[in-house]
Amino acid sequence: MTRTPLIAGNWKMYLNRTEAVELARSVAAASTGLTDREVMIAPSYLSLAAVKEAVADSPVRVAAQNVAWEEQGAFTGEVAPPMLQDVGVDMVILGHSERRHVFGEDNAMVNRRMQGALQFGLSPILCVGETLEEREQENTFSVVEEQLRQGLQDISADQMAQVVVAYEPVWAIGTGKTATKEQAQEVHAFIRSTLVTLYEKTLADSVRILYGGSVKPENIDSLMAQPDVDGALVGGAALQAESFARIINFT
Ligand code: 13P
Repeated sequence: MTRTPLIAGNWKMYLNRTEAVELARSVAAASTGLTDREVMIAPSYLSLAAVKEAVADSPVRVAAQNVAWEEQGAFTGEVAPPMLQDVGVDMVILGHSERRHVFGEDNAMVNRRMQGALQFGLSPILCVGETLEEREQENTFSVVEEQLRQGLQDISADQMAQVVVAYEPVWAIGTGKTATKEQAQEVHAFIRSTLVTLYEKTLADSVRILYGGSVKPENIDSLMAQPDVDGALVGGAALQAESFARIINFT
C-alpha cells in the first residue's frame, strides 16, 4: 500500500495577510518539482483567498483551520463550507487540540463538523491525541480510540477515503517535546488498527496518518521513516520558510 506523504503547515493564529502571502510564495517555491509528496498550508480564514492566489501556479494545497456544519445560518463567528469552496479551499483541519481544549469542542461537535465538511466536498484532517495526564494514566489508547469512534460516527467508507487523520499528542504541541519515533509509531499503528475495525483493511491501509507535535527539521526524517507515519502536521516550524522547506524535503 503506497500512501502519498502529506506535509501540512498549521499557521494557527499567526501572520497577517502580507506575511501569509510572502510565506506562501516561499512554500510554493520550496515545493516546486516535488511529485512524490503533497504539501498543504492552513492560514487564518482572513488570508485564505490571498494565499490561495499566491500558490495558484504550484501544487501546494490550502486548508482552513476549522469549518461549521451548516450551509449558512445564524452562527456568529463561524465560517460555512461553501464559503471555503468559494475561495478555492478544499481541505480543513478539524478537532485540533486547541479547538478541543481552549474552545471546548467535544467529540460530538467535531463529528458534526466532519459531516458538514464531507457533505460539501471538503477533505478533513481529523486531529486526535491525549493530554499528558491521560498518557500518564495509561489512557492514551482509550482516549484516541474514543476520539476516532465518535469523530468518525456515520462517516461512510466512501467519505473516509477523503479523510486524513492526525495524531497530535497534546503534551508535544508547542512544547518542544516531540514524541519519540517509537511513541508515534505505536499510536499510529493503533489508529490504523482501530480504522480496520471501523471500516475494512484495504481502506484503513490507504488512510494517511500524520504526526503533529514539535515537528522540526531535526526530527522529521526519523519520524517519516516509521511505517505508519504518513506525514506531519507542523505548527511553529511551519512559520519559517527555511525550516518548513527542510521539513517538506524530508528524506
Ligand atoms: P507545534 O509544531 O508548534 O508543536 O504545533 C503542532 C500543531 O499543533 C500542529 O497542528
